[in-house]
This record gives sequence, structure tokens and C-alpha cells, in this order.
Amino acid sequence: MNGPILVTYATRTGSTVGVAEAIASELREYGLPAEVRPMHEVTAIDAYGAVVAGGPIQGHEWLPEAIQFLKSYQDALSRRPFATFTLCMAMAMDGADRYRQGVAEWLAPVRRLVRPVSEGLFAGVLDIKKVPSFGYRLAFRLAVAAGAWKEGDHRDWGAIRAWAKALARDLGRAPAQDAAPARRPALPPTEDHAV
Ligand SMILES: Cc1cc2nc3c(=O)[nH]c(=O)nc-3n(C[C@H](O)[C@H](O)[C@H](O)COP(=O)(O)O)c2cc1C
Repeated sequence: MNGPILVTYATRTGSTVGVAEAIASELREYGLPAEVRPMHEVTAIDAYGAVVAGGPIQGHEWLPEAIQFLKSYQDALSRRPFATFTLCMAMAMDGADRYRQGVAEWLAPVRRLVRPVSEGLFAGVLDIKKVPSFGYRLAFRLAVAAGAWKEGDHRDWGAIRAWAKALARDLGRAPAQDAAPARRPALPPTEDHAV
């Protein structure tokens, strides 16, 4: 891979920023230089060896500016490893794994533009007072009252870092397996433990 990794994001209420930073920090742990930039500050991607682009779901879609980013750099993105990460409240619901496939379908327009090597789907943040639209504020208050959504910060830093580590592995840097099992003492060669 030639050049650092660009971790770029779009956001409306700010929660994606910390996720982009956590991903970049985990990639650096594996010796992969990574820079974090908001999409609106990116003017070229030629210098980057790989790109990780992310943002929230709004109304079952990636933000229009994130889709526009993919359209603007479609050719260059298709020529380097490309991964996506997405935040949404569906992934914060009880039994969220049941919704994983549905959420993945919201990303079909993303995949049609550039095929990612990996897609991270993460629970986001719900802070209703930060939502600008009255209609959405009302809908979210109803979702909270119905018990479907809970206000608060649902970002799962362990899951985010685990995904970034797997991405580092896909990019050829993280070890194929955790070192911990190799440090376990070998079993004595008795019949009980024969395989
Ligand atoms: C206007 C609006 C629409 C949203 N629509 C959805 C949605 O359709 N499905 C969903 O699961 N989450 C939805 N969310 C939740 C966001 O994806 C989540 O709050 C995310 O963490 C916001 O990221 P940001 O703070 O970086 O903008 C919506 C949030 C907002 C503010």
C-alpha cells in the first residue's frame, strides 16, 4: 500500500467524528499511518494508499454529502482499498443483529458507486435536542416513548476497534490471530488431552 490511510467522515450532530478518530487510532496501532479529515475538507485522494469513509444514516440513507464524496472520487476510490463505516440508531436497538441485514441494504447505493472491502455498522448517538428538524424530533420522541430507541450515546468502542483491527488485518498489517492463545501453556502430552 502506497501512502497513508485517509479516514474521512460526514456528520450532522457530531457523533461520527469520535468513531473516525478511534478507527484511525486503531489502524496506527498496527503501523498503518492514518489521517482523519471531514469529507468537506478533502480535495484529492491521490496521496492516500487506502480510504475509509463513514457517516450516519438519516432517513435510511447515507448523507447526501457522503454520497457526493463517493461520486466525486469514484475512479480514484475504485483503484485503492476502500472501506465504509456507518452509524445509526437501528444498530442500538435491542436485538440489533436482527436489523443488521436491513441496515446493510440501506448501503446499496454506496456499494453501487464503490465496492468496499469491509463495512462497519455501528450504534450511534441519539440526542434529540440536537436534531434540527421538528418532524424528526417528534418522530424520535415517539420512538423513545414506544421503547424502540433510547436517548444517549450507544457507540460501542470495543466493536469499533475490533472492526478497525480486522480492517488492518485485511490491509495486511494486524496479526491473523490474537497473540494471547499462543502464550497459553502447552497441554501435557497425556492421553486425556490427545487430539
Ligand atoms: C435527522 C435524523 C435522521 C435519522 N434517521 C435514522 C434512520 O433512518 N435510521 C437509523 O437507524 N438512525 C437514524 N438516525 C440516527 C443517526 O444515524 C445517529 O444519531 C447518528 O449517530 C448520527 O450521527 P452524527 O452525530 O455523526 O450526525 C437519524 C438521526 C437524525 C438526526
